[in-house]
Amino acid sequence: MKLNTLRPRRLRQSSAIRDMVRENSLSVKDLVYPIFVVAGENVKEEIPSLPNVYHLSVDNAVKTAKEVYELGIPAIEVFGLPEYKDEIGSSAWDLNSPVQRAMRAIKEAVPQLVIIGDVCLCQYTTHGHCGQLCGHEVDNDATLKLLAKVAVSQAKSGADIIAPSDMMDGRIAVLREALDEAGFQNVAIMSYTIKYASGYYGPFRDAADSAPQFGDRRGYQMDPANSREAMKELELDLAEGADYIMVKPALCYLDIVRQVRDRINRPVAVYNVSGEYAMVKAAAQNGWIDEKRIVLESLLSMKRAGADIIITYHAIDVAKWLKEEN
Ligand code: PBG
Ligand code: ZN
Repeated sequence: MKLNTLRPRRLRQSSAIRDMVRENSLSVKDLVYPIFVVAGENVKEEIPSLPNVYHLSVDNAVKTAKEVYELGIPAIEVFGLPEYKDEIGSSAWDLNSPVQRAMRAIKEAVPQLVIIGDVCLCQYTTHGHCGQLCGHEVDNDATLKLLAKVAVSQAKSGADIIAPSDMMDGRIAVLREALDEAGFQNVAIMSYTIKYASGYYGPFRDAADSAPQFGDRRGYQMDPANSREAMKELELDLAEGADYIMVKPALCYLDIVRQVRDRINRPVAVYNVSGEYAMVKAAAQNGWIDEKRIVLESLLSMKRAGADIIITYHAIDVAKWLKEEN
């Protein structure tokens, strides 16, 4: 065969042909929008390190949920800043905390919107670690009992999916059992299965006031150097009954997303985290990059790597951009 008969450019010559041969696409139905709920009324305060992301009181959280639903985004993930903190993070399972109140109000106002609850303790503990301490270590099994209370409390408040982000061992089995015992067999678990100890969570910790007061999270979150270990976490969560598998952060870990996608037959989610968002926003505000183009390319790459679901602070903008294009 003559070399010049092989011409890949034939499939790139017009936008109609490119549309025909395109392998992956991004849809508004892939997206989940995270929100940060606080106490009070009529609060809508921009988070400095997350431009265009806000601390919202319950009334404004409901307004945002309606906007999200009307844009066609199927789900919202609820994070909260509690009114009080203690050693064990008991405000995390208080039915009157902002998260639980927001879930009830959103479920009533927009019942078809899927509500995902982040289950962890770091926003709720005085020390900022993701579980109960024993000395300076997080006590795995004591923490499991507390996480079970958080999951059940969120399910009671209207969460359709609970998403544990703590990285304790054995949590999926314990949460599944606790939900089932409380009658929530239909509440699904989206596990933060493969969550790396990442510098990319910085802006989130400002936003959620959840930075550890001493040490770091390397004793429970994964080492960014490891991928075989990620497959071990995956096997455990599959065995324990996770309905959805999440990889977090997204962009630096797309190789892991691909490996997960190739191994399992359950939905795969990625979390496009706060630091990934903040970097794009900062460069865009300086006029150094084309924000829309960069965001759409980044999220499409997550799809190409194998993600079905993308949790992202860009979700509202992306929904609007995708609308403009149709
Ligand atoms: C809490 C939690 C974190 C994120 C989601 N849930 C931060 C952390 O582990 O310190 C990060 C989200 C983001 O950076 O956008 N465990
Ligand atoms: Zn945590």
